[in-house]
Amino acid sequence: MAAPGGRGLLLLTAVLLGFLQASSTFDVRDGDRTCILANFSVKFTVEYDTKSQKQNASFDLPQNAAVLNNSRCGNKDKSPVLVVGFGKGHSLTLDFGKTPDSYSVKNLTLKYNMSDDAIFPNSTGKEMKEAASDPDMHAGLNTTYTCVHSHRITMPNVTALFKNVTLEAYLASNNYSHKQTSCKEDQTPTTPSTPTTTHVPTTTSLAPTPPSKKPDKGQYNVTGHNGTCLLASMGLQLNVTYNTKNKTKSDLLMNIPLNTTYSGTCDNGSVMLYLFLESARLTFHFVQNASIEKYFLQGININIALPSEATEMRYNVTNNSLSELKATVGKSFKCVAEETIWVSDRAAVNVFDVQIQAFKFEGDKFGAAEECLVDENNMLIPIIVGAALAGLVLIVLIAYLIGRKRSHAGYQTI
Ligand SMILES: *[C@@H]1O[C@H](CO)[C@@H](O)[C@H](O)[C@H]1NC(C)=O
Ligand SMILES: *[C@@H]1O[C@H](CO)[C@@H](O)[C@H](O)[C@H]1NC(C)=O
Ligand SMILES: *[C@@H]1O[C@H](CO)[C@@H](O)[C@H](O)[C@H]1NC(C)=O
Ligand SMILES: *[C@@H]1O[C@H](CO)[C@@H](O)[C@H](O)[C@H]1NC(C)=O
Ligand SMILES: *[C@@H]1O[C@H](CO)[C@@H](O)[C@H](O)[C@H]1NC(C)=O
Ligand SMILES: *[C@@H]1O[C@H](CO)[C@@H](O)[C@H](O)[C@H]1NC(C)=O
Ligand SMILES: *[C@@H]1O[C@H](CO)[C@@H](O)[C@H](O)[C@H]1NC(C)=O
Ligand SMILES: *[C@@H]1O[C@H](CO)[C@@H](O)[C@H](O)[C@H]1NC(C)=O
Ligand SMILES: *[C@@H]1O[C@H](CO)[C@@H](O)[C@H](O)[C@H]1NC(C)=O
Ligand SMILES: *[C@@H]1O[C@H](CO)[C@@H](O)[C@H](O)[C@H]1NC(C)=O
Ligand SMILES: *[C@@H]1O[C@H](CO)[C@@H](O)[C@H](O)[C@H]1NC(C)=O
Repeated sequence: MAAPGGRGLLLLTAVLLGFLQASSTFDVRDGDRTCILANFSVKFTVEYDTKSQKQNASFDLPQNAAVLNNSRCGNKDKSPVLVVGFGKGHSLTLDFGKTPDSYSVKNLTLKYNMSDDAIFPNSTGKEMKEAASDPDMHAGLNTTYTCVHSHRITMPNVTALFKNVTLEAYLASNNYSHKQTSCKEDQTPTTPSTPTTTHVPTTTSLAPTPPSKKPDKGQYNVTGHNGTCLLASMGLQLNVTYNTKNKTKSDLLMNIPLNTTYSGTCDNGSVMLYLFLESARLTFHFVQNASIEKYFLQGININIALPSEATEMRYNVTNNSLSELKATVGKSFKCVAEETIWVSDRAAVNVFDVQIQAFKFEGDKFGAAEECLVDENNMLIPIIVGAALAGLVLIVLIAYLIGRKRSHAGYQTI
């Protein structure tokens, strides 16, 4: 019988194909230390010229792709790099970078060999070509970046479709960290929130915000193994001053939109909140001082792309000696008035109508609010006016009573 045999063959082919498409693991080592681990499958589509027309070549990163020896763990001066080679001289390069709290694939490069007839039949070019772009892959340090869904990266003439991505650089141990951050594509509304995964705030307003407008109030929460460790409700705005090419200064004002993806981590010593915008990354680092029972915002990192008229492409600044949004452990910090947190002499975060709490919670709700000084002063004015009025009434009353007593006494003497 042909049918069962045919089906068996089909099944075998499916199993083989499944095996071939499975993601492979790449690791970069320096002696005994593993510094980069990555698992992914990629489908490339490359547009190239033939004599008659433009043509598309589609190919997968093959199973036998291997880590090349120009990969490195890096050091103070050089950042870690993963280079995966395959076929006739093709390679895929991932350049990593980090801030004090997070890391990212700064640049993704495909180098391809136009002489490879199997992939680029009838190509008029025979040279090596390369295409690169920022792949938008990032996570907090000691956190694994994962992306099961397709993540499309577009480069000049090349599209790379990543699937089943698990990766981590700057590894602390020789294995993936337990904490995970998932990519935007994996975030569906039905996914239950697991510790420290990224989520999009529930409220949405998709209207573009003119910079002069106040930012919308976003809701942020971070959950760790012991439950909620950060709850915040606040409007955020970045203000970065840059030098322009025609030697003037200009301010870049950016409101943080409500659809911003964010993630965070919790441990005994610090609470992190990471915001991932299309053209900026923003990190908040909270610490607590057990001896005085206070927590506060100690660090901010801003990494922001500047407009094309700026002399630099990006501005990256960290200040880890702040003492902002301070409150008693177990209570929340509240400020209705706008607060400006200076990160450097040319970058500030404007915080609007904030209520925030980090570390310890009773349940998942804000504890008693501790008002900021500005709000207290604002509340002081009505109190002073009220007290003054009450005082006035009292004086009039006493004057009246004394007057009445005197006149009464007067009648008696008559
Ligand atoms: C992704 O990984 C899962 C489990 O490891 C596997 O079943 C699936 O086929 C993979 N998908 C792709 C596109 O590699
Ligand atoms: C990475 O890929 C290998 C197969 O090459 C598989 O054994 C392993 O489970 C994968 N790991 C993850 C985290 O997907
Ligand atoms: C790296 O590999 C290439 C060829 O695969 C070889 O020629 C070269 O010597 C190697 N370099 C080092 C430092 O091992
Ligand atoms: C490109 O492919 C051609 C043809 O297969 C091969 O001879 C050549 O060595 C390859 N170039 C590189 C840099 O590997
Ligand atoms: C390459 O060119 C030959 C003749 O010029 C043509 O027969 C063949 O179909 C082309 N192959 C592809 C894949 O375009
Ligand atoms: C967020 O909304 C803005 C429009 O307000 C849109 O341009 C942007 O692509 C959105 N970003 C995400 C991650 O959905
Ligand atoms: C932005 O910062 C500049 C100084 O660096 C300041 O003059 C300007 O008023 C700030 N704008 C806002 C909206 O905070
Ligand atoms: C979680 O709670 C336990 C018991 O209170 C404590 O020992 C541990 O340090 C806490 N862990 C974190 C990350 O806060
Ligand atoms: C905690 O606060 C006290 C009083 O301000 C200070 O002396 C101490 O250095 C702080 N401890 C830490 C770990 O910051
Ligand atoms: C960091 O912030 C503190 C407090 O606002 C300030 O004194 C210090 O100069 C800032 N550091 C840098 C590098 O701008
Ligand atoms: C935290 O955010 C998630 C997702 O937006 C939401 O489901 C959850 O209820 C929030 N938790 C709290 C305590 O607000």
